Amino acid sequence: LEIENLVLIKMGGSVITQKDKPLTANLEGIDAISAAISKAGVPIVVVHGGGSYGHYFASKYGLSTVPSLVNIAGVSKTRLAMMELDLLVVQNLEKYSVPVYQIQAYDIFDDFRLSHSGRKRISRLVNENLVPILYGDVMPSNNGFFVLSGDRIIEALALALRPKRVVFTLDVDGVYPSPDKRGEILHELTRVSAKKLEISNKSVDVTGGLAAKIRIGFKLSDYGVDVWFVNGLKPERVLGALKGETTEGTVLRASTRMQIARAGQAI
Ligand SMILES: Nc1ncnc2c1ncn2[C@@H]1O[C@H](COP(=O)(O)OP(=O)(O)OP(=O)(O)O)[C@@H](O)[C@H]1O
Ligand SMILES: [Mg+2]
Repeated sequence: LEIENLVLIKMGGSVITQKDKPLTANLEGIDAISAAISKAGVPIVVVHGGGSYGHYFASKYGLSTVPSLVNIAGVSKTRLAMMELDLLVVQNLEKYSVPVYQIQAYDIFDDFRLSHSGRKRISRLVNENLVPILYGDVMPSNNGFFVLSGDRIIEALALALRPKRVVFTLDVDGVYPSPDKRGEILHELTRVSAKKLEISNKSVDVTGGLAAKIRIGFKLSDYGVDVWFVNGLKPERVLGALKGETTEGTVLRASTRMQIARAGQAI
């Protein structure tokens, strides 16, 4: 059962923290996205990234997206840092009267997949007009621990809930042709234009940075979802993207074949 007009938004760690300063939030970024969410008037699920909280300890203790046997102190320190960041985010959303419902990914994911009960729980919350909020987590597995990134959580939620749109917020205006971020952003990204893209992952990001995010973006656009990359420090752009208006940013358009299939389902 699809939730009509559902939008998923990723609060990028690059927006809500200062990625180059360990354990430092960017309250302006948290505030900008919270303000936009409070005004959107559509059903929303929020996921936030780790920025200089999660990625800091994850990289310090050698945690990555591949399960491995690591010092378990790193597991608890990374998770604790994420909880601290999450509390700041949730409190700020609450300040804007967004009725949040905080969920730990660990509780509703089996590895990289959203569990059946998790999917039902999220649908129920959204139907009650609550805004579920999740964040990147450290997960146990048979082969050790791995990081489930906020981007992968977005991917799994989108495949299960089939939202109308997914909005990734970044600390830049969108996707640039090259990592020096000079000149114009690419207003629309296609598989063809993406071939010429240059992306760097200089900041501390153990989960693949923008390149991994764009791969997820194409998977979701193939699946019939519009995917936006917008500057999270600009509340009016975030709001525009949430409402489905054309706004400054980079869009990966939903494949038309899948859109037609979706429209057919709705009839
Ligand atoms: N070609 C490019 N166009 C735009 N941004 C780029 C490009 N190449 C590299 N980047 C960098 O990618 C970053 C965004 O990806 P990154 O994974 O670091 O952030 P995030 O996903 O918001 O953080 P987190 O993983 O903590 O949630 C931007 O801060 C930008 O500096
Ligand atoms: Mg990232």
